[in-house]
Amino acid sequence: MTPSTTRPVAIITGAARGIGLASTHWFLARDHDVVLIDNDEATLTATAQELSASPHALPILCDVSDPDQVQAAFAQIDARFGRADALVNNAGVAVFKTIGDTSFQEWRHVLATNLDGAFLCSQACVPLMLKSGSGGSIVNIASISGLRASTLRVAYGTSKAALIHLTRQQAAELGTRGIRANAIAPGPVETEMAKRVHTPAIRADYHDAIPLGRYGTLDEIADAIGFLCSKAAGYVNGQVLAVDGGFDAVGVGLPTLRRDAAEKGG
Ligand SMILES: NC(=O)c1ccc[n+]([C@@H]2O[C@H](COP(=O)([O-])OP(=O)(O)OC[C@H]3O[C@@H](n4cnc5c(N)ncnc54)[C@H](O)[C@@H]3O)[C@@H](O)[C@H]2O)c1
Repeated sequence: MTPSTTRPVAIITGAARGIGLASTHWFLARDHDVVLIDNDEATLTATAQELSASPHALPILCDVSDPDQVQAAFAQIDARFGRADALVNNAGVAVFKTIGDTSFQEWRHVLATNLDGAFLCSQACVPLMLKSGSGGSIVNIASISGLRASTLRVAYGTSKAALIHLTRQQAAELGTRGIRANAIAPGPVETEMAKRVHTPAIRADYHDAIPLGRYGTLDEIADAIGFLCSKAAGYVNGQVLAVDGGFDAVGVGLPTLRRDAAEKGG
């Protein structure tokens, strides 16, 4: 990469694949330098090779739940760019088990990644955002599981609900310094994470409970993240945007009534 301080810099955690990688492409297509943070060395290396044609993508191997690694990563970003304009706290893990079956180790792993990671990266990133003098945007990737409780989501749902509150704390405190903080709550999206945990029966249930009747695409989530980081969202702060096909809006679903209405049309 050639040194660059004039282009805006977007830092994306969990960027080696899935939603984070789709966001990377969104920012690269809009003239940003992009830092891809991930702790999966093999996938990050493969992704970096795919992006090697771009001089504007910088991969950094880092576990967002480890304070020392986060400090080292942001020191590297500071030395390289001296600024940060957007931070997407996207790195996340899911353990879907009952309260009784969730070990303390699993609970800590989910909370450490999904919540501590966003706290640590944001804390390290704010001084870089303040350096450029033009504010900045933090987007935390929560989930519909953080808006509504559901079966087997004790660790995951709790981590995402806490991440939504962290977003509001950040909006309250950092807004006074020109940094906006918002959250996205995606519904089900076709990624490796979803492939691992969504059985055919779960997929059918989701299709039934979502007014749009389908999973979201990676580009649809990346577009929403990009919007929140853009000037178009310049007065949006402390909000949670559900990008979920209408799942959160509808409450209890009555499949029979929906089917009847669809058959009648109109
Ligand atoms: N896929 C969905 O249906 C869905 C729905 C709602 C919310 N989300 C959220 O969106 C985010 C991205 O999900 P995805 O589906 O793209 O997942 P994914 O598993 O495909 O990608 C997550 C990435 O995060 C990285 N990662 C995990 N732990 C990390 C750590 N400690 N440090 C650095 N990187 C780490 C992984 O290596 C991976 O590359 C997650 O926060 C997830 O909870 C996903």
